[in-house]
Amino acid sequence: MAEERAELFLDESRFAQSLRLQALRVPKRLCGQVSKLLAGYVIDKPRVKHIVNDPADAESRLVIFSESVKDPSLHEIPDEKLNALKDLVDLDVTPHEILLSYEHWSADHVLREILPKTCEVPSSFETIGHIAHLNLRDEHLPYKKLIGKVLLDKNPKLKTVLNKVGTIKNEFRVPSFELLAGEDNMVTEVKQYGAIFHLNYGLVYWNSRLEHEHKRLVSEFQPGQVICDMFAGVGPFAIPAAQKGCLVYANDLNPASVEYLLKNADVNKVGNRIVAYNMDAREFMKELVNPATAMAHALNKADEGNTSRDGVSDRQDSGKKSLRLSLSSMHYTLKAKVKRKQTNAVHSDVVEAKPWEHFDHVVMNLPASALTFLDTFRGLLSKDSWKGSMPCVHCYCFLRAKQTTADIMNVRNSCLLFFISGLIFSRLLKTLSEDLYLEHRFGQCVWLHQTR
Ligand SMILES: C[S@@+](CC[C@H](N)C(=O)[O-])C[C@H]1O[C@@H](n2cnc3c(N)ncnc32)[C@H](O)[C@@H]1O
Repeated sequence: MAEERAELFLDESRFAQSLRLQALRVPKRLCGQVSKLLAGYVIDKPRVKHIVNDPADAESRLVIFSESVKDPSLHEIPDEKLNALKDLVDLDVTPHEILLSYEHWSADHVLREILPKTCEVPSSFETIGHIAHLNLRDEHLPYKKLIGKVLLDKNPKLKTVLNKVGTIKNEFRVPSFELLAGEDNMVTEVKQYGAIFHLNYGLVYWNSRLEHEHKRLVSEFQPGQVICDMFAGVGPFAIPAAQKGCLVYANDLNPASVEYLLKNADVNKVGNRIVAYNMDAREFMKELVNPATAMAHALNKADEGNTSRDGVSDRQDSGKKSLRLSLSSMHYTLKAKVKRKQTNAVHSDVVEAKPWEHFDHVVMNLPASALTFLDTFRGLLSKDSWKGSMPCVHCYCFLRAKQTTADIMNVRNSCLLFFISGLIFSRLLKTLSEDLYLEHRFGQCVWLHQTR
């Protein structure tokens, strides 16, 4: 019954409270000095000023003490501070009443008040532009709308509060959501390390908590390098890599992701350094390393690259098509402005990008199943055409709660019989729900022994 009532409406009046405090009358010009001296002893609550007008004297102000200062003698304040205060002003202490209401309390306080004592306050949530994404536990569900309203009220930048429903089952890794409060608007804009990402959070994968990892991995890339992003999403690796001066072949199976990837490439002015594909990751890699299909792709899509795209549709047709973005020529020649570290000068360099001859890094951020895609690399590269050093493969996976690293090694080994030096580096990223997130970094692999 109590739960039903709580869910029906938020009684804001129950947060009204009168605080009877002490205040010090201070000449206007000395307010700053006195506040500094009394740091830690003046009221410190959101949306409550600690200096207010003095109703008795226009030339003075009231500096309001915190609840810890109960007595007009101010004996709670250490002698040293009190003596310094006496040197500045007369100790004219007066009672002062403050009326607090719902808007003065933090979300944490309000939720603590309205949720049962046994219920943990859901204080953390992911923010995606104007959207807050919560993962409420069963115990919170009777109060979910209230929780949504409080978070919306208390976070002025939020317009939409969502709760994730069920587990992700679709291959595009897009969760299902229910709207808890605010606008039903999933189209949003996120800024990460100087890049802007447009996305529809209901249609594409996005995880704001990966920001640091996106940044870290791109910091390993060098200007002029060629990157293959097999599971690119809306471009959080691809766009900053292109901004750095890399040429990026970016692929995703989700047509909506590719549309946003293309839009984001335009918005961030890196359209000439991103070649976008919409197909299965295995096919994508095969197409890239086959000069015939890669060139056919370039010729087919050159026209599409020239046509303007004015906005992104929300359609989700599942056709396996390839989209292509304005290459500077049909021969995979990239004119990239590469910032040289040594001189800090901007040069206009030409990067010859023929992916069947060379690429530098492969990004595989599909932790739920990326390991099972490693067989793509078996015999992928041709000894006859490949030039230069072997690429570095960055493959992400989850370590499930009940798995050990040995289990991961078994999967890896079954996929990677063709690696000689195998796993060079395995890095624990962070805990995401109950799973651990790992990046495996493979390098110096020996695909050339498996030539076609
Ligand atoms: C975990 S998300 C990562 C997206 C992006 N790299 C990021 O860091 O936000 C994985 C992406 O892989 C895509 N995907 C799933 N299966 C795929 C497949 N077989 N081939 C290509 N992309 C696939 C999904 O649509 C999703 O966008």
